[in-house]
Amino acid sequence: MRFNLVVLPGDGVGPEVAGEAIKVLQTVGSRFGHDFNLQYGPVGGVAIDETGTALPEDVLKLCKKSDAVLLGAVGGPKWDDPLATVRPEDGLLALRKGLGLFANLRPVKVSPVLVDGTNLKPEVVSGVDLVFVRELTGGLYFARPKRRWQTTRGRRATDSMTYSEQEIERIVRVGFELARQRRRKLTSVDKANVLESSRLWRQVATEVALGYHDVELDHMLVDACSMRLIQNPAYFDVLVTENMFGDILTDEASMLAGSMGMLPSASLAGVPKEGVRTPGMYEPIHGSAPRRAGLDMANPIAAILSVAMMLRHSFGMAAEAQAVEAAVEEVLRQGYRTYDIMDEGKTEVGTREMGDLIAGKVRG
Ligand code: IPM
Ligand code: MG
Repeated sequence: MRFNLVVLPGDGVGPEVAGEAIKVLQTVGSRFGHDFNLQYGPVGGVAIDETGTALPEDVLKLCKKSDAVLLGAVGGPKWDDPLATVRPEDGLLALRKGLGLFANLRPVKVSPVLVDGTNLKPEVVSGVDLVFVRELTGGLYFARPKRRWQTTRGRRATDSMTYSEQEIERIVRVGFELARQRRRKLTSVDKANVLESSRLWRQVATEVALGYHDVELDHMLVDACSMRLIQNPAYFDVLVTENMFGDILTDEASMLAGSMGMLPSASLAGVPKEGVRTPGMYEPIHGSAPRRAGLDMANPIAAILSVAMMLRHSFGMAAEAQAVEAAVEEVLRQGYRTYDIMDEGKTEVGTREMGDLIAGKVRG
């Protein structure tokens, strides 16, 4: 079978980590006999420089026709002017919206070989295996009104946290379906003590739960959740939450795994089910890290694990996905580390060497 993949390397360290992820994907192709057809396009700052827009129309079209999209990262100081009319991040948001990718999965699994390498106590992070389901096409990021205006008493600006029950229902359902494939525990995160949209969220989540008697649902306020993630992260199995809450909590949760450079993500247009191929976009959760760009320093593991998620969710290749994850684990076990997860007595390697080592393990 032939699979169509669009690669959008983007800005900063994006091209470097995407390059290593593709290296690993090609190795999977030759070992397992798959043919991956790759097409490249600009997004983010590079697209602004080339075309004046953060996501050219033909790139979005190409992505719509593909089985999956791999994205590096977007953004950088060059395009950071708060008054700019077009921003690199617009490209990412337009991709999410344009491809209907409402479900963002962000797994946080603490590798046993890295439990001593985080900022938290080993006994706190040991055994952590959770996944965030972040709503990705609504809420504070997208809902209208969203604007800035001039009044006689100065400038004002607004963003809106608006959700329809349909939007809540479909994302909560993703949470329940995932929980069913795991430890059957779902935590719905909201701010129902203050926000009306959260009260609707909680109500809809409770209604959806009626169809999932085999899954235990609990509700947690977002502030309490941010605390619990540090105090007792092993408590969690699947968490489902609003776009902005998910953005903030997943950066926090990445520290459980030692570094943002370790965390992959999948953005899907449907419910992930074993054996079902869902189109999606895959990206490391770290940003473009402009200060590290071009230095062969960035950790490519988040991008490589994003390819594993792609194999699993968009290409229906569970064994291939596992081969990639096992290769990452083995290279870490042998003591190789990029700068962000470097520890005493370990061997520091750059982006390319880390990619080569992992590809080598996949090759077997
Ligand atoms: C993320 C990022 C993006 C977001 C930015 C780059 C727009 O922080 O994927 O978490 O806020 O969603
Ligand atoms: Mg973020």
